[in-house]
Formats: sequence, structure tokens, C-alpha cells
Amino acid sequence: MNILNFKDTELVHLINTNKYDEGLFKTADGIRRENYGTDVYIRGLIEFTNYCKNNCYYCGIRAANTNAVRYRLTKEEILSCCEEGYALGFRTFVLQGGEDPYFTDDAVCDIVSSIREKYPDCAITLSIGEKSRDSYKAYFSAGANRYLLRHETADASHYSNLHPENMSSINRKRCLYDLKDIGYQVGSGFMVGSPFQTTENLVADLRFLQELSPDMIGIGPYITHKQTPFAEHKSGTLELTLRMIAILRILFPYALLPATTALGSIHPQGRELGLKAGANVVMPNLSPVRVRKLYDLYENKICTGDEAAECRMCLEKRVLSAGYQIVTHRGDVKR
Ligand code: 5AD
Ligand code: FES
Repeated sequence: MNILNFKDTELVHLINTNKYDEGLFKTADGIRRENYGTDVYIRGLIEFTNYCKNNCYYCGIRAANTNAVRYRLTKEEILSCCEEGYALGFRTFVLQGGEDPYFTDDAVCDIVSSIREKYPDCAITLSIGEKSRDSYKAYFSAGANRYLLRHETADASHYSNLHPENMSSINRKRCLYDLKDIGYQVGSGFMVGSPFQTTENLVADLRFLQELSPDMIGIGPYITHKQTPFAEHKSGTLELTLRMIAILRILFPYALLPATTALGSIHPQGRELGLKAGANVVMPNLSPVRVRKLYDLYENKICTGDEAAECRMCLEKRVLSAGYQIVTHRGDVKR
């Protein structure tokens, strides 16, 4: 089966065969092994603020959710997360947060350059949303190497079903192209089973990714959250998410594909199954336990009660049980 040459209609058919498909996963796993062997890369995720000025309809930390209890980590707290993470073998730190105007460009650059100074051998990844090209340039000069920004959905009209009018698919894509142009290793991605998503939308996501050619592609099921306008919409499925991971591995042999926390949250073995379907990255949480539950994008998020060291050990076992092993270098893309 050479899906590389598939026409859109053939991809629609492949995606719609929504069953648990060992054959597809085996093909994807074979390609993953050709490129990355059985190595699994780890990234230490630091969720440093849950303040957000946006109102994405699917997200639990949207500005309009007045029930959300908000927090910010100080620079010192962020640095101690890095210290703990470094001792546990992490060589990539991902600073993720809502779009929080409290963290001005100067503040972000100050944090990034402090991490850069202390950990010259580590990759610094930012995931702080849509910014101007100049802001992205400033963070890059301060020492950031990678940036994660999911495109969420490549179809402009579907995008407008998921976001209020002040956000646009055009600006989102502009950000991604700016980031690439500046020299970041870029990660994009989308939610599987988000409200109003059609199979054609998923094909558009694959086509957009082929055009962007990002280093990393993060996908996970949409999971409902009661304090959002989408409270009544049902979550995406394990089966379709695994299927999309396998298809991504076949279309993007070189890519970094995380087995995401959202995937682990809809099924007890979600991340292990993701690895077996072609994923090769896991992103355990390094945030202080006291704030874990507050970074509440969706319901039933896993790992909210575990210290970084416990999470690291737990993942070590889970990855081994799936037939792979964690490696502790920076984990750059192979392309
Ligand atoms: N379910 C699953 N994923 C979500 N995200 C935000 N809200 C949800 C949700 N309810 C994802 C988005 C975002 C990433 C940080 O988390 O894709 O880009
Ligand atoms: Fe976090 Fe298992 S990976 S507790």
C-alpha cells in the first residue's frame, strides 16, 4: 500500500475505515524503525501559565472560563523545573502556556536566555501561541530553538467553527511560516474528532502539513470540557487518533510524532498504543504538582498528581512495555 501517492478521495476512504487496523500500525511502525529504531525521545513540559487572552471554544483555560483558577510560575520556579528535569535526563524543555500578556517579550526572552545560559546542551522549545514575527525573532535570538503551534484545523471555515472571530486560520498559518523562516524547528498539529470536523477536513490537515513540512506533528483526540461552549460535544476516539498517527508516520517518515497526554487520557494504554502506531516522542510533565490540575485544557487529564520523577519512571516502564526505550539526548529530528 503506497499511500504516498494517494489522491484525496483515497485518503478519505482510508481514514473512514475507522477500525483498529493492525496492518496499518505495523506498516507505520516499520517506517518508524527504519528512521528512529526503537528510540523514544522525551521532552520535559513546563506549563508555566494558564492565563489566556483567547477564547477558543474547545479549551478549558479560555479567558471566559471564570471558574478556572489561574496561576503563573516565576522565573525561579521555571528554572527549578529545569534543574529537576535535567537531573532526570531531559535535554529538551518545553515552555507552554496560554497567551498571557503578563509575559511580555522581554520577560520571555529573559527566561529563555537564563535557561540557555545554564543548559547550553539543551533544546528550548516555546509553545506560547500566536505572536508577531519580531517577537518570534527576539525569542530565537535569546536562545529558543523550537516552537510548537498546532494549526488546529487547516480548513478556514472549520477553524471559524472552533474559534471566535478575532482568530483566523490565516494568521495561524502565517505564524508557522514565520517560525520556519526564522530558523526554528517547528511543530504543528491538530485535534482529532474536534466538533464539526469532517474527513475532508482531516485530509486538508494532511495536505497543509505536506506543504509546511514541520519537524514535529502533535495530534491528540479532542476531549470535551464542561466549562466551555462545546460541553455537549463528544470527544474524539482512540481508534481514529491511532489511525491518524499511523497515516502521519507513513506520510512523514522523518517526523517527530508525540504520543500525547490527551491520547493517554482517553485510554489507559493510549500512549503505548500511539507508540506502536508510529509515534516516537513522549512529553511528560515537569510542572510543580500544585499547579498540575489547573492546566485544565480538557477533562480527566492524566499525570496531574505525580511528581516529575514518578512520571519519568512510569513512562520508562510504559515505553519498555510497548517494545521501545527512552533515550536522553536532545532528540533532534532526522531529516
Ligand atoms: N481537547 C484536546 N486537546 C485540546 N487542546 C486544547 N483544548 C483541548 C481539548 N479540549 C489542545 C490544542 C492546543 C494544545 C495545547 O492542546 O490543540 O493546541
Ligand atoms: Fe505521568 Fe505515568 S507518565 S504518571
